[in-house]
Amino acid sequence: MLLQVLGTAAGGGVPQWNCACPGCAGARAHPHRRRRHASLAVRADRAGWFLVNATPDIGDQIESSPALLPGPGPRESPLAGIVLTDAELDHTLGIARLREADGIHIIATPPVRHALLGRLHLGEVLAPYTRVDWRELGREGGPLLQGGTVEVAAVPVSAKRPRYAAGSGPDDPTWVVALRLRDTATGRSLLYAPALASWTDELQEAAEQADCVLVDGTFWDEDEPVRHGLSGATATGMGHLPVTGRHGTARRLAGLRGRCLYTHLNNTNPLTDPDAPQHAQLAEWGLEVAAEGMVIEL
Ligand code: MLT
Ligand code: MN
Ligand code: ZN
Repeated sequence: MLLQVLGTAAGGGVPQWNCACPGCAGARAHPHRRRRHASLAVRADRAGWFLVNATPDIGDQIESSPALLPGPGPRESPLAGIVLTDAELDHTLGIARLREADGIHIIATPPVRHALLGRLHLGEVLAPYTRVDWRELGREGGPLLQGGTVEVAAVPVSAKRPRYAAGSGPDDPTWVVALRLRDTATGRSLLYAPALASWTDELQEAAEQADCVLVDGTFWDEDEPVRHGLSGATATGMGHLPVTGRHGTARRLAGLRGRCLYTHLNNTNPLTDPDAPQHAQLAEWGLEVAAEGMVIEL
């Protein structure tokens, strides 16, 4: 299984258009610190790739990834579909950007599909442009692409719904899921969890089995969003377990056998500065930060 990291930032990206915080200002001054919205491409078979989430940066993300470029026919794309971890705008706005496709194939849990159709009205909006077909993302694994060897399964992680879908539908733990991607040809697997509000037993089990874990690194510490005036809520209250602290993800990840990397970094996270001392701390725990363009072969 081949994976390509397409982006590693939380909503807004780094820099965020209306933000002059040290992380955003630093990324303007040092362009190599820029981070596009968190996303991943997975090769489902020799010819077909799936996007994991479709971000507002999707056009640029495709253009900077040779494997995802169209050809050899004038309208031939290697992109076969999209798998969604949640319905957040930073993970779904890119769907509309793909409207030039003949059809868009989306794999998502029922609450995510309902939010996109019932609240964002994506079905009505896209119907004049392209055909959208949906497949249900379930807890039992199913093939990404018919005939391919890569399977995808959901691990529910929280009932947090996007702000635009507040109050819609009953509480459901599949509003936000982690994805287990497993290549049945090799038995190797990835756990992808860009939004984690809690660390459940089921997630722990999936993490222990994974050869690689790519996980929510939105906030370095629990008080970061309050300290930066982002929110009255702490990191966990905003749906993102922090990296450090008693409920932090670092202590969970440090005990795992697989390679562990952080993604979905918010622009307030000190890890967006490559010279920050927090990187040495991560390295001590055997953990890394994912970088755009990174190719992971499993
Ligand atoms: C999140 O990850 O919590 C959301 O994407 C926040 C947002 O961008 O609205
Ligand atoms: Mn997000
Ligand atoms: Zn900022």
